[in-house]
Amino acid sequence: MNILVTGGAGYIGSHVAKKLNNIGHHVVVYDNLVKGHREAVLTAKFVKGDLADKKLLNEVMQSEEIEAVVHLAAHSIVGESMEKPGKYFQNNLSNGLNLLEVMVSNNVAYLVFSSTAAVYGEPQEVPITEDHPTNPASTYGDSKLFFEKILERYQQIHGLKYVSLRYFNAAGADHSGEIGEAHSPETHLIPIVLQKALGIRDKLYIFGDDYPSRDGSCIRDYIHVEDLADAHILALDGLIDGMDSRIYNLGNGEGYSVKEVIETASALIGKEIEAEIGPRRAGDPAVLVASSQKIREELGWKPKYAALETIIETAWKWHKGGGFNGND
Ligand code: UFG
Repeated sequence: MNILVTGGAGYIGSHVAKKLNNIGHHVVVYDNLVKGHREAVLTAKFVKGDLADKKLLNEVMQSEEIEAVVHLAAHSIVGESMEKPGKYFQNNLSNGLNLLEVMVSNNVAYLVFSSTAAVYGEPQEVPITEDHPTNPASTYGDSKLFFEKILERYQQIHGLKYVSLRYFNAAGADHSGEIGEAHSPETHLIPIVLQKALGIRDKLYIFGDDYPSRDGSCIRDYIHVEDLADAHILALDGLIDGMDSRIYNLGNGEGYSVKEVIETASALIGKEIEAEIGPRRAGDPAVLVASSQKIREELGWKPKYAALETIIETAWKWHKGGGFNGND
């Protein structure tokens, strides 16, 4: 199939594009490179473009005869979204709507959407299932939840078929070592821990050690980015086989604390990674763990790299290799 991957030069998008390419699809990555990396697009066709540019989007959709879209292009820093809500609504909602309009006008009926566990907010119970109430604690979470709502209407009115994947904590890197996580600024725990281990970051803080968790630090459900990418392929296959639109959580169902992540990385690398206790980071729930029972049962998704050691090991290989342009 001819598949458009928006945000395909980003961390998760580049892994998705690589997998789609590997199984024989013609993949066109559409990315404005504000956060993405040109080097992350390995074999797919690349178009530098912004979702605000409806004309270019339409041209690409027509000239490449696009049949399905995987939509990952978005702003995704929770903290920033609470300082600049307009930026998040503009890009994640308004620009996302351009994509939907162009899809509808070109009769492109299949969409896999990159959503987030941030739609749930502070959970009432864990593991979190898809029918857990949604109550985002951030504009970022709002923007993804509102887009899911928009998708429902597009389905009802235009017959758009979609799967929304609510990611928990994407982590790790492609086993080849060719692509991996390279955000600037980096805010995610595992890359920060590894940058500290490499000596390219001065301080590592544990954001709070007084949470109601087994060791006082926050617990998250880390999912290997290749397992995440596999889920996109299953979702797309499901839609093409006639499955109805739906929402899936994506996590391993097992949580690790910030302290456990640092200890696991230290043991793997063979040296102690020093960390200091810092204040809590605003908006962090104590425990976020997914139930991914639904996608396991319905699509047969099964994570291959669920062990935290494997996740960190692949990330370490990537970081040690210097990332895209040296480490940033
Ligand atoms: N943390 C630290 N020190 C750091 C960085 C992070 O202690 O230097 C802690 C955080 O407080 C949190 C945990 O490590 O408890 C994980 O933090 P990340 O920033 O790696 O990830 P988040 O859980 O905050 O966010 C991720 C995605 C978001 C998404 C969210 C859904 O990055 O896009 O999961 O819950 F919205």
